[in-house]
Amino acid sequence: MYEEVKERMRFDSEELKRKFMEGIDRLAKRMRKVKMKLAVMSGKGGVGKSTVAGLLAVHYGRKGYKTGVMDCDFWGSSIPKIFGVDRKKPVLGEEYIEPVYTDKWGIAVMSIQFFLPSPESPLMWRGPMVSGVIRDLLAKTEWGELDYLIFDLPPGTGDVPITILQEIRPNGVILVATPQELTTTIVEKALKMSQELETAVVGLIENMSYYECPQCGHREYVFGKGRVSEMASKYRIGFYLELPIDPALTRLCDSGKIEMYEIDPFEFFPI
Ligand SMILES: Nc1ncnc2c1ncn2[C@@H]1O[C@H](COP(=O)(O)OP(=O)(O)O)[C@@H](O)[C@H]1O
Ligand SMILES: [Mg+2]
Ligand SMILES: [Zn+2]
Repeated sequence: MYEEVKERMRFDSEELKRKFMEGIDRLAKRMRKVKMKLAVMSGKGGVGKSTVAGLLAVHYGRKGYKTGVMDCDFWGSSIPKIFGVDRKKPVLGEEYIEPVYTDKWGIAVMSIQFFLPSPESPLMWRGPMVSGVIRDLLAKTEWGELDYLIFDLPPGTGDVPITILQEIRPNGVILVATPQELTTTIVEKALKMSQELETAVVGLIENMSYYECPQCGHREYVFGKGRVSEMASKYRIGFYLELPIDPALTRLCDSGKIEMYEIDPFEFFPI
């Protein structure tokens, strides 16, 4: 796979080419030490993609798996914040970068946010540049042997998601949508993309699906019901999940304590 990527690239100079090739080799070597890679995707921002990526990492961390999260959403980075590690700094070695580890389950976190003087900095970067930085950061990070590495991708099907799917070849993609926007188009787009890039969609999450009344336990499907299961069976997606609106979850994410969330929505996730 990595050979294919190398062949497809064109370079302005031999020096650039050599550097790129070295980077790809290093990346391949690092990624061989990760058993399972899962990418979390969505059609747009604000649907709970990072929350789902975080919950998935917590699911594995809690079970005792060596788990990492790679924040690839440079324009909407929130992984360091929801894990409460946004004030930590990764340790820089000469050839490697030590990821930051979360307090409770020791989940390894990497994000470009750790290196920025202010959160606004990357706004003027272009897609291809960001892809290059992600590739670099991912290759330089000393993840060690990991059981699971979760990628929080930026929304949509732009440059970064394509790069990750193409070069990392995750074992599966998990799709997050809200009921209002859970239209055939978004699911189809993502499915088509992952098909083209030979990565299976292994999960479909309808986030903010319903609200459960704390008094009587009644589930109110605020935006309508049942679309996620329809989609999942229509497109033969093995795992689907309705994730309720939970103010406790918002609070924990806002205060950097997602690891303290007691509910595990991924309890029956088969991967
Ligand atoms: N199921 C949920 N219940 C309550 N709040 C949620 C839920 N999912 C996401 N949120 C909140 O919605 C906001 C956006 O979620 P986030 O995961 O950052 O979205 P994205 O990564 O798609 O931009 C955050 O404040 C988050 O805490
Ligand atoms: Mg996000
Ligand atoms: Zn009620």
